Formats: sequence, C-alpha cells, structure tokens
Amino acid sequence: MSVRICCSEGGAITANDTILEQISRDDLRRIYTDGLATIGEAADLAALEAVRVRFLGRKAELVLLLRSISELPPQERPEVGKVGNLVRKALEDTVEAKRAELESRELVQALGSDQIDVTLPGRRLPLGHLHLITQTQREIEDIFLAMGYDIADGPEVETDYYNFEALNTPADHPARSLQDTFFVTDTVVLRTHTSPVEVRTMEKQRPPVRIIAPGKVYRRDSDATHTPMFHQVEGLVVDRDITLADLKGTLETFTRAMFGADRKVRLRAHFFPFTEPSVEVDVSCMACDGAGCRLCKRTGWLEILGAGMTDPNVFGFVDYDPEEYTGFAFGMGVERIAMLKYGVNDLRLFFENDLRFLRQF
Ligand code: PHE
Repeated sequence: MSVRICCSEGGAITANDTILEQISRDDLRRIYTDGLATIGEAADLAALEAVRVRFLGRKAELVLLLRSISELPPQERPEVGKVGNLVRKALEDTVEAKRAELESRELVQALGSDQIDVTLPGRRLPLGHLHLITQTQREIEDIFLAMGYDIADGPEVETDYYNFEALNTPADHPARSLQDTFFVTDTVVLRTHTSPVEVRTMEKQRPPVRIIAPGKVYRRDSDATHTPMFHQVEGLVVDRDITLADLKGTLETFTRAMFGADRKVRLRAHFFPFTEPSVEVDVSCMACDGAGCRLCKRTGWLEILGAGMTDPNVFGFVDYDPEEYTGFAFGMGVERIAMLKYGVNDLRLFFENDLRFLRQF
C-alpha cells in the first residue's frame, strides 16, 4: 500500500513503500513523511529552496543525525546509516523533481503573460525626415542623374589654387573681392563656391565630362538673405562641340522638372572669371506667371543660377585642348531653389531647426 502524503497543485507526492518498510525509527519516518509533504507544498522555487535547506541543509535534523552516527549505540548505527541515507537520497530526488516541475510551470506562466496581442494597434515611433535643403538637393541630383550626369565631390577646405587660381581668378583679380572669403591660412580657404570641383574633376578625367557637384560653401556674409554657410550644386559638361544652346536646353530641362512644365527660362549676360560668355539664368515667376508681383519685384523673372561657357584659360590649367573641346558650367544655390519652390520667405528658417517649420515639408 502506498501512503498519499500530499496533494499540492502540481500533483501528489507519494511515499515509497519499500522505503517506508525499512524505516523502524520514528524520527526517520517523521523526517521522511514531513519532508515529502513540505516539498509537495512548495509553491515556487524560492519556497522549495527554503524547504531543501530545512531538510537537507547542513543543519538539518537528518544531516546532523547522519553525522553523529558514531555517537549512537552500535546496534542502531546500521539502520540509521543505511536507511538515513536512503531517506536523504529520496528527499534529494524529490526536491529535484519538484524543482523541474516548478520551473516548467513558471516558464509556461511567463509565456502566457508575455503573449503579444497582435491585433492591438502598434506604438507609433516619432519618425524624422530629411531636412528641406537635403530634399531639394536630392531633387536637383535626381533630375541631372536622369540626364546621365555623374556626381562629383571635393573638399570644403580648399586651396587658393582650386578656389581661385585655376578658375582664372589670379591673386590681383578684382573678382576675388567680390567674394568675401574665410581664410584658414594665406593659401587655404573655406571654398566660396563649388566650382573648384570642376578643376579637380578635369584633372582626374579626360573628356567627355558630365558631372554635378553638390556641397557646402562658405562666405563672410550674414543677413536676411545670406548665411555664412549655404549649399550649391555645380554642373560641368565638357566634350567636342558643346555650345551655349546645349547649356540653355539643359537648364530649360532642369527648370521645368524642378518648377513645372510652364516655366520659361532666359539668359542674361553677366560676368564670371571662369566662363566666357557668362550668363545669369532667370525663370519666369511661378507666383504671377510672369505678370509681375512682389516675389519677382514686378519683373516677372526670378534669378536661379549663374552659368557660362568654360573659359579656355581654365582648360589650360587642366591640360584640355581648347581647340578640341568646349564646355559649359553652372552653379546654383540650393537654399534659393528651395525658397522659390516651396515659398519660404526667410533664409534663416533653414538653419533655426524649428520643428514647426521643418515638419511642414
Ligand atoms: N561659382 C559661381 C558662384 O558661386 C556660379 C557659377 C558656376 C557661374 C559655374 C558660372 C559657372 O557664383
């Protein structure tokens, strides 16, 4: 007959008959049955550990009894030794079985309570987006990439040679005073435009060249319409038989892609040291469609970029034969394009990082 000791939630723990039959001492029988019952009642792993210490720890009654076996009368020693160890082994095994049971029950509970309800609406993470200047720069890039241009890059800290000299702007040239330059040393500057990338590209590559070069430029200027740092996109095309008509067609294609199919483009004579002839390029005003309004100061036109046919002197610096090749170049301000396209009326809004402004785009 087996004695049902306990009936905890996890299932009854039953005393083993063959062990019970061998126990004649009351204390061993009590330790055995109490031990099993208490183990059975342990509700969690912490409680089980307390039970283990109580019945099997260094100061447990059973352990002390086994340790003091030599002090017992000789006729009691065999039973205490043999049966005591049987009881200890049985209690140890029971603790381990109970531990496994509790662990798997806690796991099942954890899995149950961690369950995810996939039908609940997700938590919305605040999502950023690209700054309007970056967006505009990428729009410009995409239009020229679609026309087969490559993207070129150059340093923002530039030498006098690339920023001025090789762009046909020698030291005593009056055009140098047109641009207020940040000097790092006597011969190193923060580039005042992206045109030095034209020279660096031509040094590395033979014609045909068809690149744009977006990036930051720096000028000692700061008011409502000027910031000391702003962005430009440079363009350069060099090949045989490139003409001003190619420049105009290219800029018309760009302008219509950027500002809409109805825009008209006009070229006005201008001066840049590194292009001849040079032009400023206007687009018909998108606010009044050329009729004249406040945005275009009643002229019907908005200036969007500078351009021209590459001066043969520039080809001299990069060893291109001006008899064989001609080219055109252009440079536009990204902030200016963005202001016109998105109706931003103050340049400083781009740099204040006021989220109420930035989130509109
Ligand atoms: N680099 C000139 C500027 O910053 C723009 C330009 C580029 C003009 C290329 C002609 C050709 O004003």
